[in-house]
Amino acid sequence: MNVTIVGAQWGDEGKGKVVDLYSDEADYIARFQGGNNAGHTLVVDGKKTVLHLIPSGILNEGKTCLIGNGVVFDVAAFFEEVDELLKHGVLSETEEGRRPHDRIQVSERTHVILPYHVELDRAREQKAGEGKGKIGTTVRGIGPCYEDKIARRGIQVIDLLYPELLREKLQRAVEEKNVLFREVYQSAPVDLEQTYQACLKLGERIRPFVADVRGILLEAQRAGKKILFEGAQGALLDVDHGSYPYVTSSNTVSGGMFAGTGLGPGPRLNIVGITKAYLTRVGTGPFPSEVEQTEPEIAKQIRDVGAEYGATTGRPRRAGWLDLVALKYVAELNGLTGIALMKVDVLETLPVIRLCVGYRLNGKEIYDLPASIQDQEQVEPILETVPGWEKYQTSEVKSVEDLPQGLRNYIKKIEDFVGVPVVLLSTGPGREETLEITNPFR
Ligand code: IMP
Repeated sequence: MNVTIVGAQWGDEGKGKVVDLYSDEADYIARFQGGNNAGHTLVVDGKKTVLHLIPSGILNEGKTCLIGNGVVFDVAAFFEEVDELLKHGVLSETEEGRRPHDRIQVSERTHVILPYHVELDRAREQKAGEGKGKIGTTVRGIGPCYEDKIARRGIQVIDLLYPELLREKLQRAVEEKNVLFREVYQSAPVDLEQTYQACLKLGERIRPFVADVRGILLEAQRAGKKILFEGAQGALLDVDHGSYPYVTSSNTVSGGMFAGTGLGPGPRLNIVGITKAYLTRVGTGPFPSEVEQTEPEIAKQIRDVGAEYGATTGRPRRAGWLDLVALKYVAELNGLTGIALMKVDVLETLPVIRLCVGYRLNGKEIYDLPASIQDQEQVEPILETVPGWEKYQTSEVKSVEDLPQGLRNYIKKIEDFVGVPVVLLSTGPGREETLEITNPFR
């Protein structure tokens, strides 16, 4: 059995912790989309590690981490993480089996994020100011890199190893970027030679990591090895199915794993959607169950207790109630077979708990997210208040049977509405603060 983990909200659901737990049982952990816009905060043995690009499974010794072709790959950012992991002793320069390239492989076909992508991302966001055009990106160059990929002017990891071809491709890309920088954004042009030399250097360092990731996965699947696919961001940020244009530039839904690794749908796959017991969003865009205006003290409480500040950018996250309509949509989009419910401990600090069970649009009740961004911005949530379990310390609970009745009802309500079982509960940041109900690998 293979397992795919996807974010079931707007990202920041706590996927890192679940990947870290599930990777105990996996042989391979593969990422298939996104880049270093992701931020996984992991707490292992009380030590905090933030990873953006390398799969969280790296902390699990003996596992191989793979970066699929669907990822956009900032080579310099990758090496910053490698260096950090070397410093923490997770990786070693000399010990066979623990050397960085023994533990991580990158697909030859993965597209490279270059400094001009980051600069373009920044210039666009800056030009948009606080107007409608502002997406609130992580400014990691993600969108511009995917644009180049689709426009067939991207640089792939393998190109870094072919100097002549690299120069040709870079020249074409830089020429066009410089028109944009000069004419549209009034910023400094890119220096071709400097970019080329930097790419050659990175190419030399990345060489031992470059691999046929598709082939590795296929062989692993044939040999009956267990693969964990690690999604980044969340389904509501999917470029096709999310609140477009306030989305990221990749397919974050489970379907993205096939194109993003080159592995066709295998026979046995469980897909676990990770959701917090409430909802947050960073960046701009509609958020029907948001409480920033309606119940600001709840928003503050969620942010403070849940430490809801971006792992990549440090931005405060907008907070709201769990939206069951959106979660059902996400379950359908992804073919979810299980839900991991995260941060349930935050709810026990709230004096009141509500769930969004529908929307009102132009005086009518609706039970689907409308396609138009204008309608999404106008819908009002239909909220249902549920009994809470204030001051109950769920992090101390060791079995599902011992959970407070209020929480058990809350879980049942989610399962009935969405039609998918809750397979894992997280009651705190540590590995041990977890209640596993069903193991998706079995
Ligand atoms: P980009 O992916 O940097 O282009 O940003 C596009 C949108 O996705 C913005 O609203 C970001 O805040 C959001 N986003 C990107 N990555 C993450 C993530 O890992 N967690 C939460 N939001 C994200």
